[in-house]
Amino acid sequence: MTNYYLNGGEVLKDQASLKVLLVSAEVVPFAKSGGLADVAGSLPQALIDKGHDVRIAMPRYQEIRQDMDYVTDFPLKMHWRKETCIVRGSEIDFESNGEAKKVPVYFIDSYHYFDRPGMYCHIDDAERFAFLCKAVLEMLPNLNFCPDVIHCNDWQSGPIAFLLKDQYRSNPFYRNIATLLTIHNLQYQGHYAKETLKVLGIDESYFMPEQFEFYGRFNFMKSGILYSDIINTVSEAYAEEILTPKYGEGLEGVLQNRAEDLYGIVNGIDSQYFNPKFDRMIYKNYGIADIEVKRENKQALQREVGLPVKDVPVLGLIHRLVSQKGLELIEEISEQMMGCDLQFIILGLGDPFYEDMFKNMQAKYPDKVATFIEFNEPLAHKIYAGCDMFLMPSAFEPCGLGQLISLSYGTIPIVRATGGLKDTIIDFDAETKEGNGFMFEKYKAKALLKAIERALEVYHKKPVAWTQLVKSAMKADFSWYKQADKYLQLYHKAVRKTQ
Ligand code: GLC
Repeated sequence: MTNYYLNGGEVLKDQASLKVLLVSAEVVPFAKSGGLADVAGSLPQALIDKGHDVRIAMPRYQEIRQDMDYVTDFPLKMHWRKETCIVRGSEIDFESNGEAKKVPVYFIDSYHYFDRPGMYCHIDDAERFAFLCKAVLEMLPNLNFCPDVIHCNDWQSGPIAFLLKDQYRSNPFYRNIATLLTIHNLQYQGHYAKETLKVLGIDESYFMPEQFEFYGRFNFMKSGILYSDIINTVSEAYAEEILTPKYGEGLEGVLQNRAEDLYGIVNGIDSQYFNPKFDRMIYKNYGIADIEVKRENKQALQREVGLPVKDVPVLGLIHRLVSQKGLELIEEISEQMMGCDLQFIILGLGDPFYEDMFKNMQAKYPDKVATFIEFNEPLAHKIYAGCDMFLMPSAFEPCGLGQLISLSYGTIPIVRATGGLKDTIIDFDAETKEGNGFMFEKYKAKALLKAIERALEVYHKKPVAWTQLVKSAMKADFSWYKQADKYLQLYHKAVRKTQ
C-alpha cells in the first residue's frame, strides 16, 4: 500500500490525465460535520474511475481511528515556533464495476494542533488551519508528488493559492501547480486576528481591504477568492447569488471582480451508497419496479421511531440544525402543520435553540413528531427511505445534498427556490404531471405552509399522480459521473492559466 505515498503515482497512459490533490478539512469516512465531507470523499472516486491520479489531504483529528502508515515528517515554522508535521497515509477503498480501487489519503498530523478532541471551534483555529495549508505545500516534494492542480475547499484551505504564488513559485517544483477553490458555503469564511498573517508568513502589507483584510480581521476565504486560478461554488444558482449583497456575505464585491473565473457545478452523490436497491441500512430494498415496498420501510420506520403505524404522509428533516436551513419558518407554522394529518421525523444536531424547538414539538405532539438530536447514519438512511416527503425550506443553500438523496429514495422534497435547490428541483405541476418536488419562492412561513399543503393534497387526493411523482424523482441521475467531468474541465482551465 505504501508505494502510493512516496512516488509520483503510476505512469499515466493518457496524456490528458491529471494529478490532483484535493484538500479538505473534512472527508467521509474519516471526519464529517456537513456536506463538504461527502463531496470530498466521493468526488475523488469518480475522478479516479475516469483514470486520473487524485489524492486527498486532510488534518488527522484525534477522533480518526483508521489504520494509517507513517509517510514522512518535517519541521514547519509557525511564526516564532517550530512545529513538527507528521504525514500519515491511508486510503478510501471503493468498488467500480466489480474492481477494487483506492483513493490515497494523506493525513496532516501534529501533536500540537490536531491531537485534541473536536474538529473546529478551538481558540487557535486560525493557526491550526494555517498549519494545514503550509504543511500541504511543504509535503509535496517529500512525497515526490507534484499535482497539476491543488483543489482547495472552503476557508480552511483558502490561503494555499496565495502561499503557492508568494512563497513557493521560485522553486521549479511548484512552478506549474494550478489551484481551484470550491466554495461550499460562503457563510463560513474564517476571519481571525491580524496576527494570522505572521503564522502564515505573509507580509503585513497584505493587510489592506484590497487584499486579505476584512473588517479589521484576516479572512481565509477572501485570500482564496483573490488568488485561486479558478473558483467554483456547488451550484450554478449559488454562483450567481453570491455576487449579490443578499447572499454575498460581504464578499460580493471581491467575487464580482473574479466573476470571469467563477463557475457553478452542482454536487453529485454517491449513487451506490444512497441507493434504495442496495442500501443495507434500510429495512427492505426497493426500486422503481417495486415501489410499493417503500411502504414497508415507512411502517418499519414508524414503529422504530415510536409513531403510530398508519397511512399518513410522513415528513422527514435531516440537517445541521442551524438557521440557514429555514427552521424558523417551521417554528412559525408548527401549529398549522400539526393541525394537518401528518407525521414529522427530525434528525440532526446543531443550534440548541432549534434542538429544543424540535424536542418541544415532540413533547407537545408525541403522536405526530419524533425528534432525534444526534448524528445517526443508519437512522438517516431509514428516514430517507421511509418518509414520503423531505423538508428543506433553506434561507440559502449552496447545493444541498439532502434533496438529492431523498429524490433517489423516492421521497419528495419540499424546498425553497434558492441555490442548489433551485437547480435540482422542478416544482410539480398537477396538470402536466411534470416535476420532482414542491418549491416555494419567498422566504416566508406562509409560503412554506402552502407548499406543504399542496404536497399533502396530491398525496391524499391524487394517488396516481403521487406515484408518478415518486417514480420521476427516483429516475433522476445525480451521480458524480457527469459532474466529475465538469470538475475536470475546471482543472484544465486552471492548468492553462499557469502555463
Ligand atoms: C455545505 C452547503 C451545502 C452543500 C455542501 C456540499 O454544507 O451548506 O449546501 O451541499 O456544503 O457542497
